[in-house]
Amino acid sequence: MLALSTAQADALLDQGKQIYTQGVSGTPACVTCHGARGEGSAAANFPYLAGQGGAYLEEQLKALADGSRQNPIMKPIASALSEPQRHAVATYAASLPRPWNAAQLAAKAQTYPDGKDTGAWLANRGDWSKQVPACTQCHAAGGIGVGSQFPAIAGLSKTYIIEQFNLWRHDQRPAGPGQVMGNIAKRLAEPQIEAVATYFAGLPQAAVPQASGATP
Ligand code: HEC
Ligand code: HEC
Repeated sequence: MLALSTAQADALLDQGKQIYTQGVSGTPACVTCHGARGEGSAAANFPYLAGQGGAYLEEQLKALADGSRQNPIMKPIASALSEPQRHAVATYAASLPRPWNAAQLAAKAQTYPDGKDTGAWLANRGDWSKQVPACTQCHAAGGIGVGSQFPAIAGLSKTYIIEQFNLWRHDQRPAGPGQVMGNIAKRLAEPQIEAVATYFAGLPQAAVPQASGATP
């Protein structure tokens, strides 16, 4: 990757911020649904974008535009963005502070969860009878994400998480590097998916009150 000068990096963030707050080609601005700080809305099933890896976000915008990830709301919006615009807005969203306190959330990781709590068990231990590793092996302790390819999943809404699994089960979202999420989604039973979605959706509330007043 080419190193950007500070001025170039600032210009990219400015361009991204403009797209984020004003939209392009008459499509609604990102801020309308994903929030002023990229925090999303769990109640409305709009995922947070703040602090997700730039490469991940850019890849999702590409898939939403070409329809390999199916979503009727995002399709026209992602399609209106040029490749450089996708890069700029993804870079901007990635630069925003996460909507929760990552250190406190990571400290919530349970090495030995209650075996009766299917969601906590799957998240932290996996289901090796189905060759499903612990979610936290890739999404980090507390589901806070790793690097630019493994998105954070803590605090996404339960409905949104289940919807993503359904997309993978029906080949309506790219399966991820090495088919990883496609395989996992197809191996787990519906009650397992529901349980693990409930676990990650509730994690930030369980760990800490929502980080308030975080400004970009
Ligand atoms: C009208 C509401 C709305 C607007 C405006 C909107 N989005 Fe979205 N966005 C959504 C919804 C709903 C989803 C979840 C789609 C799904 O369920 O797969 C989403 C998903 C995404 C995702 C995938 C996130 C992830 O974690 O995988 C990205 C990236 C994204 N939007 C970026 C943008 C950008 C950039 C803009 C502005 C150019 C924008 N969105 C404008 C509603 C909106
Ligand atoms: C071997 C690594 C790996 C494991 C294990 C794993 N994931 Fe993932 N997950 C990924 C990758 C990589 C992506 C990004 C996919 C992409 O780039 O399209 C992802 C994406 C996701 C997303 C989409 C996030 C968003 O914002 O749309 C959800 C939800 C998710 N995983 C949940 C889970 C759950 C729940 C488990 C455990 C049952 C799990 N993952 C286990 C690697 C993994």
